[in-house]
Amino acid sequence: MRVKRLAGFAVIAMLLFAALWPRPSLAADGNIIAYPSTSAPVMLRPGDYFEAGLECGRAVRITLVSLRPSAGTGAQPVLVSKAFDCREQKRLTLAAPVDAPEGLYDFCVERKKGEGVETECRGHAVSVVQEFKPAFRFVVLTDFHVGDERGGKNNPGIPLQELRAKAMAAVSAARPDFVLLTGDLVYYPTTYEADYAQALREVLDGLKVPAFIVPGNHDLYTMMGLGIDGRTFWAEAFGPHRSAFTYGPFRFIGFNTYNWPPAYSDRLDAALIDAVGSRSLGIMGHGEFDWVKDRIAEARAMKLRPVLFAHHDPMNMSAFAGDDKFPVIQRDEFAKFVRAQGVEYYFFGHTHKNYMREDGDTLFISTGTASSSYLPGEAWSFRIVDVDAAGNLTMRPFVVWTPVVSAGQ
Ligand SMILES: [Fe+2]
Repeated sequence: MRVKRLAGFAVIAMLLFAALWPRPSLAADGNIIAYPSTSAPVMLRPGDYFEAGLECGRAVRITLVSLRPSAGTGAQPVLVSKAFDCREQKRLTLAAPVDAPEGLYDFCVERKKGEGVETECRGHAVSVVQEFKPAFRFVVLTDFHVGDERGGKNNPGIPLQELRAKAMAAVSAARPDFVLLTGDLVYYPTTYEADYAQALREVLDGLKVPAFIVPGNHDLYTMMGLGIDGRTFWAEAFGPHRSAFTYGPFRFIGFNTYNWPPAYSDRLDAALIDAVGSRSLGIMGHGEFDWVKDRIAEARAMKLRPVLFAHHDPMNMSAFAGDDKFPVIQRDEFAKFVRAQGVEYYFFGHTHKNYMREDGDTLFISTGTASSSYLPGEAWSFRIVDVDAAGNLTMRPFVVWTPVVSAGQ
């Protein structure tokens, strides 16, 4: 009897503790929009269909689904769906209205809450274009690291937030059709709560075109003892950690190269992360690898040329061989796979340096950081890629700001 009572107290104490302990995430009860999302937007023409996924968790009456013009794009709000019960419809096929003006939209759902309604949106989740251009431009932007002071190391007093805003304004001024953002948007788990919110705000305020965003190592660390998991922040702030989309003759496939299980990415367990290399290096788990493999096969079936983008080059992945609980694809095996598939372009970040290397038929392209620590001879930059009507790529780094003091001085 006494044991039962004690157990009861323990349960109540745990519940009280859970209720009082602040939940380390951004939204009070998560965002129910799984996709389209800020990290995995859809680009489509008026009248085209698109898929949406909602994770309501329980029965929810959705009263309206709409596209709201993202700030500064000048388009009009458009209704895409009437009321429905989310329990019955978690996967939706919707269409952009035939008269939808060209522009960037937030994807919004209104749900019934008590007597009123509550609206949730995913910013920059839908881009309506009049046409997919035969010749187009995209930008690779990477490693801007909100919360990271390293950019100021050689340049004390440099306004890093202003530098990031300048980078995003320059990206928008280059008028790309879309952006590939290859990770490391934030820096360290103890400040994830503020930094994720800030990174999202800066992307939504700064970019005027859709961005396909994949995470880097700095975005997905954990601190298990404190209940902090970067994956939760990523999902709530940006959405999916991978996406695939078509533009011109290409199928762009973005994926997560930091899929370490939470125990292996715990910044509070220095011994383990140093043993497996997860402080900085990437890893390809089987699930992520299979997804990439399937997307490449799909691209080939569609007669499209696959282009990969991710945070890590296979050369920047760990040599960790995996174990029973976490089987991995060896980095050499993954590099061999990319080569064997005849992938022509693999864009990545992580190195904070602009360079390219060839491996078989694959060109591996690294883009420098937009505002973090840079290597000697580098400036804060992003990369502009122009594709002509014949599908040929030309690319160049675009310098946002040349540091007054070079690294290494
Ligand atoms: Fe980085």
